[in-house]
Amino acid sequence: MNTIVRLDLGGAAQIIFEAGDITEQQTDAIVNAANSSLMGGGGVDGAIHRAGGPAILEECRRIVARDGHLPPGEAVETTAGKLQASYVIHTVGPIYRDGLHGESSILASAYRNSLRLADRLGLLSVAFPAISTGVYGFPAEGAAEVALGTVIDELAMARNVRLVRFVLFSPAMLSTFIQAAIEQQQRREATGWNFTTTTQEEFNPRKEKEAMMSRKKIIAANWKMYKTPEQARQFMHEFMPLVKDHKRDEIVICPPFIDIATVSELANGSNIEVGAQNLYWEKEGAFTAEISGEMLVGAGCKWVIIGHSERRQYFGETDDTVNHRLKVALEAGLAPIVCVGEVKEERESGITEDVLRRQCTRAFAGVSARKAARMVVAYEPVWAIGTGLTATPEMASDAHQLIRREAANVFGEEYAQQLRILYGGSVKPENAHALLSQPEIDGALVGGASLKADSFSKIVHW
Ligand code: PGA
Repeated sequence: MNTIVRLDLGGAAQIIFEAGDITEQQTDAIVNAANSSLMGGGGVDGAIHRAGGPAILEECRRIVARDGHLPPGEAVETTAGKLQASYVIHTVGPIYRDGLHGESSILASAYRNSLRLADRLGLLSVAFPAISTGVYGFPAEGAAEVALGTVIDELAMARNVRLVRFVLFSPAMLSTFIQAAIEQQQRREATGWNFTTTTQEEFNPRKEKEAMMSRKKIIAANWKMYKTPEQARQFMHEFMPLVKDHKRDEIVICPPFIDIATVSELANGSNIEVGAQNLYWEKEGAFTAEISGEMLVGAGCKWVIIGHSERRQYFGETDDTVNHRLKVALEAGLAPIVCVGEVKEERESGITEDVLRRQCTRAFAGVSARKAARMVVAYEPVWAIGTGLTATPEMASDAHQLIRREAANVFGEEYAQQLRILYGGSVKPENAHALLSQPEIDGALVGGASLKADSFSKIVHW
């Protein structure tokens, strides 16, 4: 029986290895390596053109007429004609000579540019063949190493692509690619990765897509102004073993800037991701004490909290500064956690709904659904933060529904159904289950109770 091997990279990304015919795959895009209609010189328009019909060829000709031939390592898309996929991404790998002519780096850019293109198109899944191993003669082990190394690095930065499938033409090539993945895991000491095997019959791409689009909960720690780098290190040593096999929820830690390097180094390759608590909206410049999105990415952050109520209360942040920060965070490839929430007086005078609506519309202004794919919202009633008072699960659910409706108005219904909305405000081990078992509550942003490994791990295991 045919088996498929799944590699769960922690976080939200997965790679699937299978033997089969790439032209038959139901996926958002399949990658077509090397064809003569796009390249100068020889080659053949192979299986994908045969299966997809003349429309693809026609599009390729138009691309060549407009932009010229496709250089090795670049990628362009066409629609997919009669194929099941929505797009075909065309890329050309190197012809292997002796490995000393930059072949590996050209092959890496063929994978990289294909994946980046899919990500720019807003796609969730891409299927790759073994680019350049066929008539191009790249030795299989070397090609698999380049493919896996590149795809794993790129998946870590992708905003939209979460599933890469390697659909390989022979069982021998399949085992070569799986072996390369195991080597990557060892080399990266990635203890948070997990390999599983299922049968091809059990694999249903449609169901798979629905599951990936369902709202996996996020348990995020906001350490505020607590912990020196040494204390952060100690926390990680205690915390990591307590959650090491946890897959049900995504785990994010947002330490103070000064601790980010320490925490991300320790979390590297695990199921824990790192975020910052703020960022500035300029790329760089004479802005003493500020930190840019690019700097955060460079230090290992994937997430950033924006517009926390303490920033709004004590540091003069407004709905407009939240909007600026959201835009640059998305531009930098970070997943923003945008905080909204009413203060006590607003709740008591019955204007909670107006406040939430205003905060959302202003924060989201000028942002497209495609760009905002990785955004998360945190509902944090200000009167519940650090006070021991918690919104009841019902109150939180009501607020979440309102925020989801607001998101639907701005970004459309489909986006809103996927948007994850976290609750924050005195979340503790004792109330985590009641809050997080609400279908409307897609996770928690935890302040005080995230400072101790023991209590934060209990919340993660809600
Ligand atoms: P708290 O803080 O859990 O200490 O109430 C939550 C937050 O401010 O994000």
